[in-house]
Amino acid sequence: MKKDALLPQRKDDHLTINLEQNVQSSISTGFKKLQLKHKALPGLDLQGIDTTLTLFNKHLAAPILISSMTGGTKAGASFNRTLALAAEQCGIAMGVGSQRAAIENPELSETFNIRKFAPKALLFANLGAVQLNYGFGIDECKRSVNMLEANALYLHLNPLQEALQPEGNADFSCLLPKIEQVCRSLPVPVLVKEVGWGIDIDTARKLLEVGVAGIDIAGAGGTSWAKVEMYRLPDPLRAAVNDAFGDWGIPTAQNLLELRQLEGNPLIIASGGLRDGVDLAKSLALGAKLGGYARKFLLAANLGESELMNQIEVIKTQLKVAMFACGVASLSEWNIHHLEGVELL
Ligand SMILES: Cc1cc2nc3c(=O)[nH]c(=O)nc-3n(C[C@H](O)[C@H](O)[C@H](O)COP(=O)(O)O)c2cc1C
Repeated sequence: MKKDALLPQRKDDHLTINLEQNVQSSISTGFKKLQLKHKALPGLDLQGIDTTLTLFNKHLAAPILISSMTGGTKAGASFNRTLALAAEQCGIAMGVGSQRAAIENPELSETFNIRKFAPKALLFANLGAVQLNYGFGIDECKRSVNMLEANALYLHLNPLQEALQPEGNADFSCLLPKIEQVCRSLPVPVLVKEVGWGIDIDTARKLLEVGVAGIDIAGAGGTSWAKVEMYRLPDPLRAAVNDAFGDWGIPTAQNLLELRQLEGNPLIIASGGLRDGVDLAKSLALGAKLGGYARKFLLAANLGESELMNQIEVIKTQLKVAMFACGVASLSEWNIHHLEGVELL
């Protein structure tokens, strides 16, 4: 395993850039093209709308996820604490950022130890799938899960990000059998996510065939990692390379629609540019079970735990009202017929 001594610094750079710069993708998620079908007589009592679900044996008050972001540094630890306390209080799920730094340097493990702040929450560990080509294996995946007593592991796929980083690990060859080994050997479910460019149906199908328990699309239209990395690059030529990728990727809504063709009703998580509870409702109508928000929650957490909790409660209420106004009493009732404009995607 080749250690990357500058990794924690890079993680702090990512936090600062996400907090201070405009790193919004130049394309849209596609959610605006979709309209939820209004029901003037919903036949329901708003009080009775049920937004709860059970996933991986964990009860959630609403299908909301704080997407994988941070850890590995002092600032990362502080954000993880705030995010985890809010996840626990609001009854939602949370992922940590890549734990590679803590695997390489166990002193950093504590920055990911969020179970103490969120004893009941559904928590996701996180590693880059590509690290399976750079010395990581089953043991490192198990250690990542144990670090926060996670209920599942996310392996992230970020080929474009690695390609656009000067220090990136861009050997993505022959990863599928290694992902299969991880799925077979881990005591918890393994999910795969992108980081903001989406997961095409062929890739999703292959991943599900080798035992991946769910796909988090992290589609395009939200945070653009081509832009984030561009702000990190002092070299104007490298920045010019990244500049062309600001509108890359599969828009989130379109990606969800595409994955509806998958056989066997797999677990799909919607993320990438979700703005509010109405985008979440549209995602659920397109077949997702959970909706993830990354940068939106980072910006809120930066203002403090109560601001973050307020924003989570607003999303929950928006979802509940959208369900009411569409005549949807519980999450399992959402379906594509609640949407107009699907042909525009
Ligand atoms: C500051 C920051 C750090 C991130 N670090 C990771 C990471 O370590 N691992 C990962 O899988 N995704 C990471 N992501 C990607 C998010 O999980 C998410 O897929 C992406 O930002 C798109 O969601 P958004 O448009 O809601 O921000 C990070 C996102 C942000 C904003």
